[in-house]
Amino acid sequence: MRLLIIGATGRTGKKLLSQALDLNMEVTVLVRNPKKVKLTNPNLHIIQGNILDFDKVKEVVNGQDAVLSALGHKRFFIPTSILSKGTEHMIQAMEEQGVKRFICITSLGVNDSRFKLGLYYTLFVIPFIVFFYFRDKAKQEKLIQKSKLDWTIVRPGQLTNGKKRAVYKHGAHVGNYILTKMISRADVAHFMLSQLSSTTYLHKTPGVVY
Ligand SMILES: NC(=O)c1ccc[n+]([C@@H]2O[C@H](COP(=O)([O-])OP(=O)(O)OC[C@H]3O[C@@H](n4cnc5c(N)ncnc54)[C@H](OP(=O)(O)O)[C@@H]3O)[C@@H](O)[C@H]2O)c1
Repeated sequence: MRLLIIGATGRTGKKLLSQALDLNMEVTVLVRNPKKVKLTNPNLHIIQGNILDFDKVKEVVNGQDAVLSALGHKRFFIPTSILSKGTEHMIQAMEEQGVKRFICITSLGVNDSRFKLGLYYTLFVIPFIVFFYFRDKAKQEKLIQKSKLDWTIVRPGQLTNGKKRAVYKHGAHVGNYILTKMISRADVAHFMLSQLSSTTYLHKTPGVVY
């Protein structure tokens, strides 16, 4: 399978990349700084570029079987549109080129999973720290949901750098209104890759937590 990973230099993206290569997939990554990719593998193709550059996105989408996105950033306190704009580019490029399968991380707490990241996030983190970021995530999800793609939106709980357990809860029912549920980035990557051979969550927005 030929896979494009967006955000492959990030903490979840790195897990996605190493696990995909372990599965013998042919992986292309679009990265702003190729020096950040520490892996070498004959199945790995590193393309330098920015998700905000539509021509570059079209180039990397060409010929792929599926696209996985772990796009994120740290510009928390100012209005941003990096997630929604970048995702819009992905969707347009994929629709134009007939690449259908898109699996994208957003977060519990977004849109109809509002409040499901626990009280601490609901009352403090989302309104005071990541308000603009979450507003852009909400827009990102809506763009994906109205696309013609075979999409799955993956909504993790709070991310950790723990090891892959390959055992976790997933689905519409997960998350908690009081407690903040966790999941490791390695297991989010595991879940996303498992969705490449599954139709269970086609056009769905599963949460993922322990
Ligand atoms: N933290 C949590 O508890 C939590 C909970 C639920 C969901 N999430 C979401 O999960 C996702 C992954 O999180 P993470 O911690 O793995 O993120 P991360 O470490 O911040 O990685 C983000 C990735 O996006 C890339 N990126 C940013 N802007 C880009 C651009 N314009 N063009 C191309 N690539 C770009 C970054 O590239 P560079 O290396 O070049 O910067 C990096 O590879 C994020 O959307 C995050 O909001 C987080």
